Amino acid sequence: MLVLGIESSCDDTGVGIVADGREVLAARVQSSAMLHEEFGGIVPELASREHVMAILPAIQNVLTESGIGVGQIDAIAVTRGPGLLGSLLVGVTAAKTLSLALSRPLIGVNHLEAHLYANALAASIEFPAVALLVSGGHSAIYRWSDHGRLQLLGETVDDAAGEVLDKGARTLGLGYPGGPAVERLARTVSMTDLKLPIPRLRHPERRFDLSFSGLKTALVDLHQRHPERLAELAYALETAVVESLVRQAVAAALSENVRHLYLAGGVSANQRLRAVLEERAEGHQIEVHCPLRQYSTDNGAMVACAGYYHWRLGHFMGLDQGPRTPFPLGEDLALTKS
Ligand code: KG4
Ligand code: ZN
Repeated sequence: MLVLGIESSCDDTGVGIVADGREVLAARVQSSAMLHEEFGGIVPELASREHVMAILPAIQNVLTESGIGVGQIDAIAVTRGPGLLGSLLVGVTAAKTLSLALSRPLIGVNHLEAHLYANALAASIEFPAVALLVSGGHSAIYRWSDHGRLQLLGETVDDAAGEVLDKGARTLGLGYPGGPAVERLARTVSMTDLKLPIPRLRHPERRFDLSFSGLKTALVDLHQRHPERLAELAYALETAVVESLVRQAVAAALSENVRHLYLAGGVSANQRLRAVLEERAEGHQIEVHCPLRQYSTDNGAMVACAGYYHWRLGHFMGLDQGPRTPFPLGEDLALTKS
């Protein structure tokens, strides 16, 4: 079963061809991040224009690279949402066109779920599990009981983890995207006495929520007091984000009594997050799984993979349907059923 997956929810145009939800035959990502750098964040109109330019060459490239003829593709999967509407429209339009021209099923994929499925490109998912999804736009913890069965356990009440790293990097003058820049600079030190608060939310019914906006403000404050200690500030920021994520994810896995914890989303590329999570979870006999780094950030292969599992469940997208944003991921998520 060959699925071609298309991702265009943000600033990366990704296309991938995946066999049986597991083997990546080809994957290409073209990013417009450099273009947005001078604005310190994504400019939606610029992003959509770049997708328009990049999408057809990217599809052509993965077909050439994999040696697969377009007629051999069995299904088309596309990120339907959440994301920037103009950007999503480009991928959805390309996917619908291919589906119609080739008479192949179209599968609309939730971008957040696609991030979780990046893990299935490395090994079969072990259910039941808890998943920590950390990207530039979202931070959430789910119970992942089976394919297509996700239940939200907690989410950020304000900024996403990637967003606080991106904004923090801007405060420190490190450029965009901020996550990798913060990681690179933080790696140059191994400790600091500069401390940033690790948010604790105590709402009894929302025990696994996250919050990062206070951290952002505290960083601005700390930076004003110690403008010359940039590497330590980056280290303190990374520490606070990692600690907050690790505490909540491990607490959720323990509360759900699961043995498997999946990490996903762009921030999962962070080595320190991976290392601290693994170390902390190991003490509780919880196994941590991370996607290969090249599939942590936005890409088409993870979309093809999620599409494969939804195809197996009989979830399809109609040609009369368009992008969907917001697109919450939860128990009743059920991408459009046929
Ligand atoms: O999942 P993703 O590629 O796009 C969204 O769906 O948002 O995630 C992008 C986010 C950005 O905020 C970026 O700064 C962050 O992931 N990121 C990282 C690293 N690489 C990307 N954060 C921390 N460490 C990294 N190595
Ligand atoms: Zn993403």
